[in-house]
Amino acid sequence: MLRHSSATSITQGALRRHFTPHAHEERLKEFTLGTLLRLQNPQLEVERAMLIHQEIPHRLRAATTLLHNAPFELSKFRLFREVVEAYRTLGLRVSKMPEPTTAEDARASSASLHRMLKAFRIPLFTGGFETRALAIAIAELRQSHQEEWHSSGMVDTMDKFAAELSTLRISSKLLIDHACAGNHRRNLGVVHRNYDPRRCASTTVSHAHNLVEKLGNECPDIQIRLHSEAFPEHATLGLVPTHVQYVLIELVKNALQATLDNAKGSRLPPVTVDILQSEELTTFTVCDAGAGIPAETLPHIWSYAYTSTGVHPSEVGLAQMTISGCGVGLALSRTYARYFGGSLKLHETSADGSTFVLEIPHHINAHECLPAAGIRA
Ligand SMILES: Nc1ncnc2c1ncn2[C@@H]1O[C@H](COP(=O)(O)OP(=O)(O)OP(=O)(O)O)[C@@H](O)[C@H]1O
Ligand SMILES: [Mg+2]
Repeated sequence: MLRHSSATSITQGALRRHFTPHAHEERLKEFTLGTLLRLQNPQLEVERAMLIHQEIPHRLRAATTLLHNAPFELSKFRLFREVVEAYRTLGLRVSKMPEPTTAEDARASSASLHRMLKAFRIPLFTGGFETRALAIAIAELRQSHQEEWHSSGMVDTMDKFAAELSTLRISSKLLIDHACAGNHRRNLGVVHRNYDPRRCASTTVSHAHNLVEKLGNECPDIQIRLHSEAFPEHATLGLVPTHVQYVLIELVKNALQATLDNAKGSRLPPVTVDILQSEELTTFTVCDAGAGIPAETLPHIWSYAYTSTGVHPSEVGLAQMTISGCGVGLALSRTYARYFGGSLKLHETSADGSTFVLEIPHHINAHECLPAAGIRA
C-alpha cells in the first residue's frame, strides 16, 4: 500500500522551489594538491592554521546553507536535523576562533578544533555518520513517495543534492584533517608524495578481508597487480590516500559481494585490482567474476541510497560496518573520484562479471572541484 497523499505529492514546480543546485552565497577557494603539499612544510605551520580560520568556516557555512535548503521533506528526519545543527554549530564556533599569528597559536587552534569535534554528540567527519543518516532519510522518503520517485524527477534532484552535500563534506573534512594533522608529528598533512599505490590497495584488501570474515564467510582471494614502471624521478606527485582507499574499499566490497552471491562449487574466483601508473594519473581496475549487473539495476547504481540487496539502510545502522546494503558506496565513491578531477566508471558488466575503473590524477596541478568555487590557490 502506498503511503503518499495529495498533500505530499511533489510537482515539477515544487521541485524547482525546493532545491536549486549551486545556490550558494559563499565563494569557495579551491586548493591544488601542490598548495596543500606546500602547506605541509613544518615551517608553514601558521599558514596552515590560517586554513582553519579562513576557509573551514566558509565550507561549513556552504554545507549548512545547502542543508537548510534540502529538497522535499528531508528536514523532518531527526538524524538529518541533528547533522544540520551540528554543521551550523561547528561553523559558528570555528568562525569565532582567534586568528593564529604564531606557531604556538597554530598548534593551539588545531588542538582546539580537534577538541571541538570530539565534543559533538554525533561523530562528525568520521565513521560515515552523516552519509548514513542521509541514506536513511532518503530511503524513508523514497518509501513514502514510491509513485513519484522516478516519474517526477525526485530521484535526480536527490542525487544532485546528495552529490553536492558530499562534495562539501569532503571539502570540509579535507581541510580539517589537513589542519589537525599538524598535531601528529609524523604526518603533517593529508597529501602524500611519492605514495605507493600498492599500499593503498593492500590496506583495502586487509580491510575487506576483515569485513567478510566478520560476517562468517570465506573471503575470495584478492589479487593486486602493479603494471607500471617506477615513477619518473623528476615528477612531483601528490595524492590523498584516504580518498583512494575509500573508493577501493567500496569497489572491492561490491566485487566480493557479487562473487559470494554467485558462488558455485567450492572454489571462489578471485577479485583482481590492477594498477597502472603514469606521470599524470593512477588507474585502478577492479574486476570480479560475479554474475554482472542486471539491465534493470544498471540505471540506478549511481543513485544515492540505492541498493539491490533489499536491505533498508536503517537496518545497516549508523556505525556498523557491513559489506553492502547502505546504497551509498558507488555514489560516494564517484564524488570522491571527481573531487580532484578524477573519474569512476563502470567499464563493463556481463554474466561473466563486472569491471570498474577508477582514475586518480596525482599531478600537483590537480585541484579541488567545488560547487560555487571562486578563486584558486
Ligand atoms: N561488482 C558488482 N557486481 C554486481 N552488482 C554490483 C556491483 N557493484 C555494484 N553493484 C550494484 O550496484 C548497487 C549499488 O552499489 P553500492 O555500492 O552503491 O551500494 P551497496 O553495495 O548496495 O551498499 P553499500 O553502500 O553498503 O556499499 C548494488 O546494490 C548492486 O546492485
Ligand atoms: Mg557497495
